[in-house]
Amino acid sequence: MPFSIDDIISAQKELDKFRSKMYTHKNSSDHERFIFPFLCGSYFTYRKIDVKRVVSIAKSVSKDPSYLDIGCGYGDFLEKVRQYLPKAEGMEKNVEMFFKLGRYKPDYIKIGDAYNEIEKKYDVIFVGWMEPGVDYRDKIAEKTDIIITTFDKGGQCGINGGCEFEGFGYDKVASWVTPSWIDVNTELMNKYYSKISDDIIKSLSELRGAHNLWYVYSKPKYKEKIKEELRKIETDNHANPPYKHEKILDECGFKIGEILPAWPSVELWKIKFEE
Ligand SMILES: C[S@@+](CC[C@H](N)C(=O)[O-])C[C@H]1O[C@@H](n2cnc3c(N)ncnc32)[C@H](O)[C@@H]1O
Repeated sequence: MPFSIDDIISAQKELDKFRSKMYTHKNSSDHERFIFPFLCGSYFTYRKIDVKRVVSIAKSVSKDPSYLDIGCGYGDFLEKVRQYLPKAEGMEKNVEMFFKLGRYKPDYIKIGDAYNEIEKKYDVIFVGWMEPGVDYRDKIAEKTDIIITTFDKGGQCGINGGCEFEGFGYDKVASWVTPSWIDVNTELMNKYYSKISDDIIKSLSELRGAHNLWYVYSKPKYKEKIKEELRKIETDNHANPPYKHEKILDECGFKIGEILPAWPSVELWKIKFEE
């Protein structure tokens, strides 16, 4: 089920409470985005490197690419992408979350349901969310040659809990792993907002997970060009300086290249290219 407006309003009340009572730490304003991701940030615990990767994928097809972020929410990630791709748009089906909370809705966020209201073709479509049990991969496949998707390993996406697009005429091009907001949230709460001892915090941190998967798909003709552009990003150090909120990820043990004891085969943010 998508969030109901009542859920969003009660989350806003909790946020107001957090601001008035729990703003105890000097970085509380940066913590907000991981504690209230929908209202203050994004469910993707992204860094600038993620934005740069997305941008370079889009630029591998066109100098001024069209781009659609489906289920963009209030558009935190989209805003960052628009700094490099000014034509980027979002689609969000919940109109109430803007108007009932008095939040500004920019023109580049269209209200609509990706299931049947994507009106034109885009160079790239970013699919950050599909409700469990809902599957409109075929609709997306009609509208683009390149898909970037990010979803939780726990599976919130599509009928079988997966957002794979191989069956729709795409090749998988590359993938990487980032922490999910819940992993970061747990660390933050333990570290700054709980009265537990340092030893316990340390032992709990051994359980850190990282479950957000980013997959890039394209029609076969774009695959090699996308890989080439992505490789440039890895070597050119384009992602500096980092976003301010990235220091929280560092502090909570989710550095670029970090290997988590609970998942030793994965290096965070390390890109894996497909043959
Ligand atoms: C989990 S939130 C993620 C919001 C945002 N992308 C972020 O990073 O925080 C999922 C959003 O997708 C929207 N959504 C769900 N199904 C949709 C659909 N079929 N078409 C457009 N938006 C949809 C929901 O209303 C919600 O705002």
